[in-house]
Amino acid sequence: MKRLIQLWITSFVTLGFTSLNAEQPALAQSPAIDVPRVMRVAGRKLSAFNLSHKDQLAYPTEAKGSVWTTVDSKNWVSGFYPGCLWYLYAYSKENSLPDAEKWRQMAEKWTIGLQNEQYHTSQHDIGFIIFDSYGNGFLLTGNTDYLPIINQSAASLSKRFVPTTGLIRSWGNIDDKTIQTTVIDNMMNLELLVWSSLHGGKAAQGMPSNLLGIAKSHADRVIEHFFREDGSVYHVVDLDPSSGKVIKKRTHQGKSDESTWSRGQAWAIYGFSSMYQYTQEPRYLKASERAADYYLSHLPPDFVPPSDFGSSLTGLEFKDSSAAAVAASALLRLSNQTEDPSRKKQYFAAAEKTLQSLTQAPYFLESDDRAGILNYAARNYCEDPESKLTNTSLIFGDYYLLEALLAYAKATESHLAPGS
Ligand code: GLY
Repeated sequence: MKRLIQLWITSFVTLGFTSLNAEQPALAQSPAIDVPRVMRVAGRKLSAFNLSHKDQLAYPTEAKGSVWTTVDSKNWVSGFYPGCLWYLYAYSKENSLPDAEKWRQMAEKWTIGLQNEQYHTSQHDIGFIIFDSYGNGFLLTGNTDYLPIINQSAASLSKRFVPTTGLIRSWGNIDDKTIQTTVIDNMMNLELLVWSSLHGGKAAQGMPSNLLGIAKSHADRVIEHFFREDGSVYHVVDLDPSSGKVIKKRTHQGKSDESTWSRGQAWAIYGFSSMYQYTQEPRYLKASERAADYYLSHLPPDFVPPSDFGSSLTGLEFKDSSAAAVAASALLRLSNQTEDPSRKKQYFAAAEKTLQSLTQAPYFLESDDRAGILNYAARNYCEDPESKLTNTSLIFGDYYLLEALLAYAKATESHLAPGS
């Protein structure tokens, strides 16, 4: 038991989650975030999905109503459902709740369903797929069967590294000689490489660099090519893989090439904070802070951004609660990493305010009429609220909400066991 608790604590530190320490900014007396309530609702909804998909490993992706649309294991979102189950296991174990074992078994079942993805080389998202499932599973249970799968996944991702550009090719054919496309989201998949490099993983044969070298090269080139003067980031950069030169900076999911897609900005805050956690290289902390400062100075009063900061659409149906959840988790970690006392306070307070919004109506979906936990998420910037791209629940929004709440509970030790 002691070892399990130790593992849980270690996992938070290793994953860069916020832990209580002397530097934690002062908190309001009552944080007013009811973590047990959210975990109870999450447990009900995630368990219902498992029951309705007993014999079919189809992974939830988005839900406008009471039923999740599903995708197969190859889809970039497939790791989030098992990841949510691992977080429920973590929460139950931490609070000595009787259902911990149930969550572990469920999480294992859905994690194992992803095992073939370790060989996946057709896009960069193997990091999301494998680290949120097998990675969380290993960190929480120490199951050594998971380690070779994580390391094989890192080797598979390393094959997409293009030495001339110094970046991982996020999308497109791995051998395309005419164009390489890299997206800001790719920052999130570096953790797989760095973590694996610390646990015996190796880059694929023939690669000119090791896993850590690939991750650092990628992060350094992102600082060079993706950031604008004001700290906002481009979503997509196309490069010439022969010369390494940038062809075009643009968007795919935002409003326009020069506007700022809010989830992309949140991926940048999170991704650089994660790189700093592992490497302690100050340039990554600075990059995360720059991205965070832009993000925070453009937020509306409820701390939940529109799907694009350049949007003039103000309704809830054009917001992206998933961006807010990603940012909340990243800001909690960043508040522990930054040396600047005023930033420390600001980041923590912003994460707390974001979580206050996300855990109440209209963002929080308590009733079972809706399959998801968070409402008003947007896959892309979109002007039609009826489109499946916006005004919906997204499984990754729910995943980062749970992650942020676990970190918040840990940081504040304010949580009470459900039912108490
Ligand atoms: N990584 C894809 C997205 O954020 O929509």
